[in-house]
Amino acid sequence: MDFHPSPAVVRNDHPHTGPYWSGSAISPGPEVPALDPSPVKTLQLDVVDRIIDLAPGIKYHAWTFGGQVPGPIIHCRQGDLIKFSMTNRSNETLPAAPELTSPMMHSMDFHAAMVSPDDKYRSIAPGQTIEFQFHVNYPGVFMYHCGTPMILEHLASGMYGMLIAEPRHAYPTKADKQYAIVQSEFYIKPTEKKVKVDGVPVYALDGAKVRLKESTYTVFNGVYNGFVAHPLTARPGDRVRLYVLNAGPSNTSSFHVVGTIFDRVWEDGNPDNQTRGRQTVLLGSSCATIVEFKVAEKGKYVMVDHHFANASQGALGVIEAAEGPSPSGPIEHHNIPVSNVPTEALAARGKMIYEQKCYACHSIGKGVLIGPDLYGVTHRHPDKWTDDWLTSPDNMLATDKTARELRARFTIQMPNQGLTAQDRQAMIHFFHWIDSQPQPGPEKPPPAQSPGPAGP
Ligand code: CU
Ligand code: CU
Repeated sequence: MDFHPSPAVVRNDHPHTGPYWSGSAISPGPEVPALDPSPVKTLQLDVVDRIIDLAPGIKYHAWTFGGQVPGPIIHCRQGDLIKFSMTNRSNETLPAAPELTSPMMHSMDFHAAMVSPDDKYRSIAPGQTIEFQFHVNYPGVFMYHCGTPMILEHLASGMYGMLIAEPRHAYPTKADKQYAIVQSEFYIKPTEKKVKVDGVPVYALDGAKVRLKESTYTVFNGVYNGFVAHPLTARPGDRVRLYVLNAGPSNTSSFHVVGTIFDRVWEDGNPDNQTRGRQTVLLGSSCATIVEFKVAEKGKYVMVDHHFANASQGALGVIEAAEGPSPSGPIEHHNIPVSNVPTEALAARGKMIYEQKCYACHSIGKGVLIGPDLYGVTHRHPDKWTDDWLTSPDNMLATDKTARELRARFTIQMPNQGLTAQDRQAMIHFFHWIDSQPQPGPEKPPPAQSPGPAGP
């Protein structure tokens, strides 16, 4: 955690020219590229007006970060230092429609930062540049946006984007495909001057509709039915991870994918906030999530805001799984084994005892700690041996060769845990449950089909 950011600097002398963004941590989306491992990320992201293609036959005068709506993805890791700079280039003439150029104050508000808003998020004038830095203290999927009043108008004009902060030790699953989805609404009316670009009418923000929440379009990644015309792709068997942000500004999203169940959902993109087996995730304005699912078979999986009035305004997209290799094996990855819970009562009790008494010294599938990894213990020792060891390590060391050999490999001897016979039975039950699970750790190919039921 860092709570000592330095003051922001606003300067008039060095406006950025050339590209509207730069830095290894920044990309246009919706694909999420590999993370740059550098712990310091310098990024430039400028404000500029653009005419965007909002829907077929509808162009929109947007105020943007980096010249696109939503703004580009910023991709970093928890603990990184972000060195940020932004020039307000709203005074640059709109090449397609010079008469719509509208220089005005803008600012940047990072939900991923913990800083003084009146310092870092202050508005800057056209031609000015603001520079500040912050540490990314929390992992997650965070909104960034312009915070200049009327904020509602700056948001509805397109000034928002997604920052992904991966956890310090990465996400616990391995995704085969990952995409960033930003939902938002538009409230439009024809421009006063009835401007056209390439023969298509240009629309601008309707200040009355936006206050009444009477949206014209609700879309993913800035385009009406955009991912219907250009579907995202996956393969049958893939684990798909979607980073989803509802930028609003004023509506909620009931994010759903037809034909699947989210096996893991990390609210706000933080794996500590995990829920399982979700059909739909409700996102208020500026809420974000990560949803993951396995693609069961070939098909077109439709992403939708299940508020169907919103879907009918364009919040619709397709993830198309065409025929192809199925590189990931089992339908569940099971690579965060301690978060799997046995449903059988005795094994569940065993898990509880493990977490209270053994967890500090023994991992399950994550390697040797102070003592051995307990994954596979039921294959290495008969239950009677394990029961004897749990009853009295001292006795076993005096009488058993295997126990002595094991002891020699570790620095510290396991203390007697004072377990009752029932405790020991529960633990051994739990160990069998673990060993009936797919092997934890990196993705393995599926096991060969065996004729009988698996298990101990
Ligand atoms: Cu703004
Ligand atoms: Cu905000």
